[in-house]
Amino acid sequence: MHIKRIRYSEYHKLITSPSEAAKLINKNDILGVSGFTKAGDSKSVLPEIAKRALSEELSLTVLSGASLGYNTDADLAKNGALHKRLPFQADPTLRKAINNHEVLYVDQHLSYTAEMLQNISEYRIDVAIIEAVSITEDGYIVPTTSVGNSASFAQNANKIIIEVNTSMPLDFQGMHDVKLQKKQPHREVINITEVDDRIGEPYIKIAPDKVIAVVYTNVPDCPAVIAAPDDKTSAISKHILTFLEKEVEAGRLTNSLLPLQAGIGKIANAVLSGFTKSNFDNLTMYSEVLQDSTFELFDSGKLSFASASSITVTEGCLKNMVQHFDKYKDKLILRPQNISNAGEVIRRLGVIAINTAIEFDMYGNVNSTHITGTKMMNGIGGSGDFARNAYLSIFVCPSISKENKISHIVPMVSHTDHTEHDVDILVTEQGLADIRGLAPRERAEVIIENCVHPFYKKQLLDYFKEASAAGGQTPHILEKAFSWHTNLIENGTMKFPELVNQ
Ligand code: COA
Repeated sequence: MHIKRIRYSEYHKLITSPSEAAKLINKNDILGVSGFTKAGDSKSVLPEIAKRALSEELSLTVLSGASLGYNTDADLAKNGALHKRLPFQADPTLRKAINNHEVLYVDQHLSYTAEMLQNISEYRIDVAIIEAVSITEDGYIVPTTSVGNSASFAQNANKIIIEVNTSMPLDFQGMHDVKLQKKQPHREVINITEVDDRIGEPYIKIAPDKVIAVVYTNVPDCPAVIAAPDDKTSAISKHILTFLEKEVEAGRLTNSLLPLQAGIGKIANAVLSGFTKSNFDNLTMYSEVLQDSTFELFDSGKLSFASASSITVTEGCLKNMVQHFDKYKDKLILRPQNISNAGEVIRRLGVIAINTAIEFDMYGNVNSTHITGTKMMNGIGGSGDFARNAYLSIFVCPSISKENKISHIVPMVSHTDHTEHDVDILVTEQGLADIRGLAPRERAEVIIENCVHPFYKKQLLDYFKEASAAGGQTPHILEKAFSWHTNLIENGTMKFPELVNQ
């Protein structure tokens, strides 16, 4: 096995068990770990580190690409191993620890972490832990289902532990395109003008003398769980497809559209699945995560190429992809997340970005991260990287949820991740608001008319009318702007009792 998987013989003497490798971590270390939305994460060393925290004090700062799989983030948090976590997580236990002030969390644009590592010396990585399909003859790392921040971590780290995952096919070699960027003022143009352009190497170049341990694992990626499209997500998908068809009719887009980006979660996945039955063809993706819908689109013949930083799919989809990898290999590139999410490239390619909001307001500001303004949900992820730079920045969410107690369109968002300046299109199952080129009060009319559920329409119109009477470019009644949220906290619903029957 070593001959195929670890082709650099100097590393053979470093092969050890995950528990021995975990002992090489010091109490206050800063770790840079592979893994992006559950894909390509450390499945043996990091869980062993979490176990260590059961019997000894650890206070680690853990940087990753994005969220980790299985219960790794939960165990690190539950066992008290974490001091600080960044740049993204999506785990209920860790989320609770963050909101209870047990763990510090830096919620970061996913393209930004690599920049931070170059510019802030306090974040020097003590140990990088990186999952590999194999190691090349020169000791370089061939990543697995994600590239994430792994190349930046390896470059910045004092020491490296490599986790060779034998459940990943050797065929993955060649799928990645890894390029590190120079620090300013020596930064070069990212020379991607088509989604399938390759600008780097198919492996992560490292200094072999940094490697302190190599371990084997055979645990596959933690499978994604994706809900099947339902009435709401299908309606959202239909509104977007109809809108894009009209853009083609108007001559603003061709039938191949422009490269698509779709965020995590069931809505974005359902929207992309909807493209399989559309009239569009020869589609491309320039995204950060590829979900099941990407492979449905490949299989339906609608998608010709997809570039991203990770592949996060369900168990069945992963099995199919691995079994028929020859079918997909030439249509896929995985890149570092500061390249997949680079503003420069997203703007040049003209990406159509579709991301999910927690809530948006009547002027088009979007909250992607905080429940009722204070409690962290997951994090901004790449939504800001794409929204700010996209050709079309689309945000989707249901109009209402929790038995009508929550309206996802509110007078003023309780936390702002994407400002009115970065948002073009808002969509709920009720309809689609195209707010391009509109002034704030024009936007409010279009958003209330098209996106708000009838149960909350009058309530929002009343607020808008009352606010407008007082004047201002972006009218608000400050003492009432968050009254929907305070009503939800105090009375369990955003609906005002006097309007319950309207
Ligand atoms: N007020 C109160 N609670 C709300 C809420 C609101 N406005 N919006 C959502 N919630 C609650 C839901 O009720 C649900 O709670 P539950 O778990 O108790 O049922 C929870 O938050 C999650 O909502 P759900 O609709 O299931 O979320 P989702 O899986 O569709 O994800 C986001 C939505 C916004 C959390 C997710 O897309 C995200 O993290 N986005 C930010 C990152 C991102 O966009 N990355 C893009 C590039 S990958």
